[in-house]
Amino acid sequence: MNAIFKRTSVRKYAKKNVNKKQIEKLLRAGMAAPSAVNQQPWEFIVVTDKDLREKIGKTSPFTKQAAKAPLSIVLLMRTDVRLVEMAPQDMGACAENILLEATKLGLGAVWQGVYAHQERMGYLTELFGLDESVVPFAIISIGYPKGGKLPKQQDRFDESRIYRNGYEAAPAKEAEDLPEEVPAEDAPAEEAPAADAPTEEAPAAETQEEATVADAQEEVSAEDEPADEAPADAQEEEAVVGWRSGTAAGLKN
Ligand SMILES: Cc1cc2nc3c(=O)[nH]c(=O)nc-3n(C[C@H](O)[C@H](O)[C@H](O)COP(=O)(O)O)c2cc1C
Repeated sequence: MNAIFKRTSVRKYAKKNVNKKQIEKLLRAGMAAPSAVNQQPWEFIVVTDKDLREKIGKTSPFTKQAAKAPLSIVLLMRTDVRLVEMAPQDMGACAENILLEATKLGLGAVWQGVYAHQERMGYLTELFGLDESVVPFAIISIGYPKGGKLPKQQDRFDESRIYRNGYEAAPAKEAEDLPEEVPAEDAPAEEAPAADAPTEEAPAAETQEEATVADAQEEVSAEDEPADEAPADAQEEEAVVGWRSGTAAGLKN
């Protein structure tokens, strides 16, 4: 499946809306995910309203792009399911399916973590007036990528991560060398992703073929409004860079 190897996080969007048919496809893809005992713990809040977009952009220092994306989908996880301990895994599969469908449609998307940060979950619970039957799981912001193309995905294949017919623990030299207490400023950030290698542009032909399919879809409905496309301010850049390197001062919870 090509979308797996084309998907990258997209945090800047063109001034073009995602149409209703595309939104349905994204939600269908999410709901096609596997889940424990087929419990399907997901629910979705589709956000296109400008005020609401700005509000969900304030969920954390790393969700600012949600204010500018023409579409965000807030994924909710039901708590009244049979195997509640499996529900976060079900939700992860659901989220990834949405990202892959977005890629297939020529859209760019980014998964923004909410669960299980109490502060972020509390913020969205209050914003949407959720009751105890659901918890906010993630925000996926989606739009046409600014510049028209998805950045090229890094090749992360790493033979050293693979063990065959057994597991041999990696030498624990880093653990032995660690001081007894890691100073707070050096402590690894809770959700720090690996630093990204420089990206190249995706091959135009492949990406545009999919974008053309997406373009051919039904045009934007009247109630949809164009996304803001103000250039990212310095603060926003800092938050994204901070997110990607796990060093943002705002990463507290
Ligand atoms: C659970 C989870 C939470 C994430 N939260 C955020 C977030 O809050 N803000 C953000 O900009 N990106 C977020 N990301 C996206 C990651 O930063 C991104 O997937 C990672 O850097 C790898 O880059 P790639 O998606 O382009 O391959 C999150 C991804 C996952 C899986």
